[in-house]
Amino acid sequence: MKCIKVFSPGTIGNIGPGFDVLGLAIKGLGDIVEARKIKSEVKISSIESEYKLSKDPKKNTAGIAASEVLKLLNVKSGVTLKLKKGLPSGSGLGSSAASAAAAAYATNYLYGNKLSKKELILPSTKAEESVSGGFFADNTAPSLLGGATLTRSCLPLDVTKIGSIKELKIIIVTPEKVILTKDARKILPKKVPMKDFVFNMGNSCLITAAFSKDDYKLFARSLNDSVIEPIRAKLIPGFDKVKENAIRAGADGMTISGSGPSVFAITNNMSKARLIEDAMVRTFKQFGVKSTSIITEVDPVGTRLIK
Ligand code: HSE
Repeated sequence: MKCIKVFSPGTIGNIGPGFDVLGLAIKGLGDIVEARKIKSEVKISSIESEYKLSKDPKKNTAGIAASEVLKLLNVKSGVTLKLKKGLPSGSGLGSSAASAAAAAYATNYLYGNKLSKKELILPSTKAEESVSGGFFADNTAPSLLGGATLTRSCLPLDVTKIGSIKELKIIIVTPEKVILTKDARKILPKKVPMKDFVFNMGNSCLITAAFSKDDYKLFARSLNDSVIEPIRAKLIPGFDKVKENAIRAGADGMTISGSGPSVFAITNNMSKARLIEDAMVRTFKQFGVKSTSIITEVDPVGTRLIK
């Protein structure tokens, strides 16, 4: 029986101040799902991952997303999934969203490809909700659509693909520490002072303008967050110093990727990117934290079939 292979990229969501609203797909990191039709139900036959993940399809975002898609398609038969994790769990790079997006896409494709990528955002986001403790599409939407996305509303879901910035270089450093999104959401404030709201809104709008115009110079001055970053930074050892040294090495901004612990810095110059990466990794080390790093760019395509 026909077996297909789908790749979904990792994501940065939130892009800086655009909490739960702005997300971005990145090249070079992602999850792969191999899928095949079966007579009934959703099964996960294997998971290749450095981390222990449940093969119970009701507890894994890939299995949940596949079931949601079967429900939407009103199909009584099922799928079996093989999951290959390229993204570490609890790292802030949209790991659970990528598994959900790939499984949703694969299931839809096997059963006639009737739903658009946009229509797959809702089932993928429902799957992510089961592990993240919140309903937000800033990882599932860019992982499916590629580029940067804007979620105006979750229910009803209203997502727009904004665009990409071709010259953007993104330096992602992931310290060896797991932060669960649901824990990093619990510590956030219920109310925000008006001046911080206005500040974050101005910067978020500038990010939207930057991606829609493919304008790095605009993006370079927009990565400022006075609401979420100062609180979540406390969960990441050495954050302030890593940021200071990234900027000193030439970065135009640095903040937390998703709910952390990954952080990302930006530039449009590859030689600078290498210096920034080195400065960030070395600074984490000074705080006794091992980390992995990658210099990457925007993935403008999102979820796709692969050979
Ligand atoms: N927007 C979510 C958050 C994404 O920051 O909590 C988590 O990956």
